[in-house]
Amino acid sequence: MSREIRITPSILNANFDDLVGEIRRIAAVSDLVHLDVMDNLFVPNFTFDFDMASSIIAQSVLPVDAHLMVLDADSIAPQYAEIGCASVTLHAEATEDIPGTLRAIRNAGARAGLAVKPGTDIRQYADVCDLVDMFLIMTVEPGFGGQSFMTDMLEKISRTRSIIGDRPIWLQVDGGISLETIEMATRAGADTFVAGSAVFRAPDPAQMVSTLRALASAVE
Ligand code: DX5
Ligand code: ZN
Repeated sequence: MSREIRITPSILNANFDDLVGEIRRIAAVSDLVHLDVMDNLFVPNFTFDFDMASSIIAQSVLPVDAHLMVLDADSIAPQYAEIGCASVTLHAEATEDIPGTLRAIRNAGARAGLAVKPGTDIRQYADVCDLVDMFLIMTVEPGFGGQSFMTDMLEKISRTRSIIGDRPIWLQVDGGISLETIEMATRAGADTFVAGSAVFRAPDPAQMVSTLRALASAVE
């Protein structure tokens, strides 16, 4: 596939006592590290508050891809851009002013991402393409790692690829990406892959990142 492939491992299922060390383990072979921020309001799980996330971001040896599963993304997302995340993704379902917040993320120097949950139609967001650097199609219900890839999201991935057309927008998928699912997600049009449990439950996380990349890159 001529499309550039990116692997963005999620540390949600890594060792939370040493997240900086866990990032180091996959740094040489990964494009960005995916940081799942959950507030126990938008999703029924909690990971980090802003101070905890800031500390990880400051110490990360990889650029950070923040996935904000929080209410009030309008005020929170620009703050994640200001503290140095390379990419900040908000959820369409948690944001009042999507265009304004995407602009604020870019103005603070980060790439702007727009995520949708499995039940949310992507077509209603086609008109914000010019403000988006990455679409994130959730392939599980957000909140937890280790869930199964929802194959009925493949159609939404393809639809998003059509919406993107020839714009240089990344198309990320998140949830259940593994040796078994990465090729079908790639065929549907994804080019940027979050993998949490597949990577950090593997005996050699870095090797798993490389294998996932090789599988996606070999798709024609
Ligand atoms: C789930 C998170 C994911 C999670 C993916 O809400 O957004 O990033 O870490 O984990 P796996 O790859 O195990 O499905
Ligand atoms: Zn995520």
